[in-house]
Amino acid sequence: MKFQIPKGTFDILPDCAEEPWRASALWQKVEETVRETANEYNYKEIRTPIYERTELFDRGVGESSDIVAKEMFTFIDKGGRSLSLRPEGTASVMRAFVENNLNQQGSVHKFFYIGPMFRYERPQSGRYRQFHQFGAEAIGNSSPEQDAEVIDFLCQIYKRLGLKNLKVRVNTVGDPESRAHFRTALIDYFRPHFDLLSADSKIRFEKNPLRILDSKDSRDKELVQGAPSILTHLSPAAKAHFQEVCNLLDQIQVPYEIDDRIVRGLDYYNKTVFEIMTEDLGAQNTIGAGGRFDGLISSLGGPDLPAAGFASGLERVIQVMLAQQTPLEEKKGPLIYFIPMGEEARAKCFLLATECRHNQITADVELSAKKVQAGLQNATRLQATYCAIIGSDELQSGKIQLKHVQTRVSSEANLAQIVTHLRGLTS
Ligand code: HAM
Repeated sequence: MKFQIPKGTFDILPDCAEEPWRASALWQKVEETVRETANEYNYKEIRTPIYERTELFDRGVGESSDIVAKEMFTFIDKGGRSLSLRPEGTASVMRAFVENNLNQQGSVHKFFYIGPMFRYERPQSGRYRQFHQFGAEAIGNSSPEQDAEVIDFLCQIYKRLGLKNLKVRVNTVGDPESRAHFRTALIDYFRPHFDLLSADSKIRFEKNPLRILDSKDSRDKELVQGAPSILTHLSPAAKAHFQEVCNLLDQIQVPYEIDDRIVRGLDYYNKTVFEIMTEDLGAQNTIGAGGRFDGLISSLGGPDLPAAGFASGLERVIQVMLAQQTPLEEKKGPLIYFIPMGEEARAKCFLLATECRHNQITADVELSAKKVQAGLQNATRLQATYCAIIGSDELQSGKIQLKHVQTRVSSEANLAQIVTHLRGLTS
């Protein structure tokens, strides 16, 4: 019986002709860029388990969010505990921060992470059930500079990856005081239109009317057009904070638009929220998003510390890189590919390849081809730089011809000094 991969998941392969975004070199490129940029912004890596107690996400992400209400992979373990695959990283990072008492080690804490997340969504292009995020969370700083820093950090990663034509949309969801005020205004506005709302938005009306602003339903969208704006319901403190975030973005030259309809699909946000969009992906056009979430840590039993962060989907980022034909480094195969002729040569080639590898030279050896021609084809397919055919003559003389696979130019090398010779060719 042949098995098929579960719906909404995919394999990342060394190469993938039909879906080039699944080629592992691209994933490594994004991951390396995230790590390098994180280092410059002084964010340190954190890794948390891929599953947590379900309650963490209920409380952290919020029971009224679609992510928790509809999209979690939840299971009961053999001990009768309800566990869920993480649908996002923020709640887990905050749980780890609190549980490991990291607040005792200084006042500002900056983390980044890269890893798989799980949401039971209807799979389509750009939307998967197991997807991957890189993200960052900064804890302990309530100033607008922190918000601007996380937005800039994410934009720098995209810039270094060569992404173009992105739109940064920012908004504020206000502080609790502003939200209470805005909530009343929204209820007053939607109440006379209640019957026209979608079934989901009727529930949102009761639980969290702000969410209606985020509805994808076409009738809801029409109603939303006339809804009041959060920007006219901000407390003086929330307004000043948002204005300063915008000033800072201007100063550090991060282009952005203010979009007062952004509310985000997770419950923990407070003040600044943002989304980064592309026009090169079709429907799933948000490649990264985040914001400030000041009350989350204390709601998870930790100290009352402010925090801000972002997460971005690797699949979507890679798909945009390909759609925009971002120039990529050429793929590299082994520096040297040994092709033996006969049993004795095969043993020698294996030793030579091992010697090269022990000296940090990438090398491989042809162990399966019956004919030299097939070995040469494999050297080309693997994108080796040099190949060397070794038979009894070469073993006897101790000399081989190193052939450049592309140019076909050969040079003679001493078998006993293969490492020195190859180093000389590449230095
Ligand atoms: P989010 O908006 O739910 O935020 O997800 C962030 C990004 O993850 C999205 O913009 C998208 O690129 C990607 N993404 C989400 N769902 C899928 C999916 N099913 N398939 C493929 N990609 C997907 C968060 O997760 C927050 N934790 C962000 C954050 C961090 N806020 C503060 N700190």
